[in-house]
Amino acid sequence: MSDLIIKNVGQFFGKGPAPYRAEAASEIDAVEAEAVLIEDGAISAFGDFKRLTAEKPGVEVIDAGGRLVTPGFVDCHTHAIFGGNRADEFVMRTRGASYLEIFEAGGGILSSVRATREANEDELYESARKRLEVMTAHGTTTVEIKSGYGLDTETELKQLRVAKKLAVDLPLDIVPTFIGAHAVPPEYKDDRGAYVSLVCDEMIPAVVEEDLAEYCDVFCDRGAFTLEETERILKAAVDTGLKLRIHADEFESVGAVQLAVELGATSVDHLAVITGDDIKTLAGSDTVATLLPGTTIYLGSGHFAPASKMLEAGCIVAVASDLNPGSCTAASVRTVLSPAAVNLGMTPAELVHGCTANAAYSLGLADAVGTLEADKKADLCIWDATDVNDLVYRWADPRAYMVIKEGRIIYRDELRIE
Ligand code: NIG
Ligand code: FE
Repeated sequence: MSDLIIKNVGQFFGKGPAPYRAEAASEIDAVEAEAVLIEDGAISAFGDFKRLTAEKPGVEVIDAGGRLVTPGFVDCHTHAIFGGNRADEFVMRTRGASYLEIFEAGGGILSSVRATREANEDELYESARKRLEVMTAHGTTTVEIKSGYGLDTETELKQLRVAKKLAVDLPLDIVPTFIGAHAVPPEYKDDRGAYVSLVCDEMIPAVVEEDLAEYCDVFCDRGAFTLEETERILKAAVDTGLKLRIHADEFESVGAVQLAVELGATSVDHLAVITGDDIKTLAGSDTVATLLPGTTIYLGSGHFAPASKMLEAGCIVAVASDLNPGSCTAASVRTVLSPAAVNLGMTPAELVHGCTANAAYSLGLADAVGTLEADKKADLCIWDATDVNDLVYRWADPRAYMVIKEGRIIYRDELRIE
């Protein structure tokens, strides 16, 4: 790994430590320096360019030209591996059909399940790889990816094997999550209990046996899994050593937040309809509240998570893309930051802490990524913006100027009109 200095930096945003709660989340906590030295893929020192070069004569230098540097973005909730496309359902939704109606009629997640079962591993790999390439260009250097479009053991494993191969081939940190309980597949429609048993007794052991996931997730909501079913699955997962995350309170508050906190889940995600008591419970815990504003926008539901109440109460708030084929096709978390700011009432600083430090914390990776601290991985984005406010203010172009992963340039913006 080669060493590197980035000089002439306008602002180094996000000096840590994670997690950020309450007022700390809204602080513009810039590192007071003009340059950073990267050694052996890690952040080594901040300081004055002259002093850093004196320490490392001949080292490669990148001139940031006064631009903003942030930690590489951490997208802690995606469904980036799937077959097919749901543009037809999108058009139906523009004509008034609701996401839940489409799902109840056998479409939605189930239509992606059909396409994912049909696709082979190479096809899933290629289409997901393209999505991750776009994400990388948008500054994401760590990404969580869920299964959940198989709903049978073979296809769930197929999706997770693709995630593993992507993690080997791409210069990104990929955190795999098993979500066999994403929907009840049609073949178990009349025997939900048997499907829950399949998830607990066959899928989870198979996933663990092949070491294919770090987390187990459940979609606990109206139209998905009940609180009792969710508890059974999450307990089975914990018994095998998997950590937990959960889809909760997207459409209806059914008690999933309390359960998640009781079971020590690392993250509860969506929270569009979370209630006051649950906000208090979350604030008193280390479970992260991961908000997915792109989904609210893309569904046109108007139910944005009460972000400012959560921040005020002291919750650890993260923000992710939720990239998936149905409820949010946003290619990256960067894409949703500007509309999230105005719809959630979150400042740029709160949002960027949410998709860096707090998202890393939600994946158990706060020691390695998400902040600009010495000894962390040198996962950095240089943005065509002067500071964090300017970054989120700019909506139209989500690409980073340069993306660095463990000290290596993995993307540079090459858009030029010739
Ligand atoms: O997080 N809510 C459940 N899962 C996804 C949607 C998946 C889909 O529609 O394919 C989500 O929004
Ligand atoms: Fe999701």
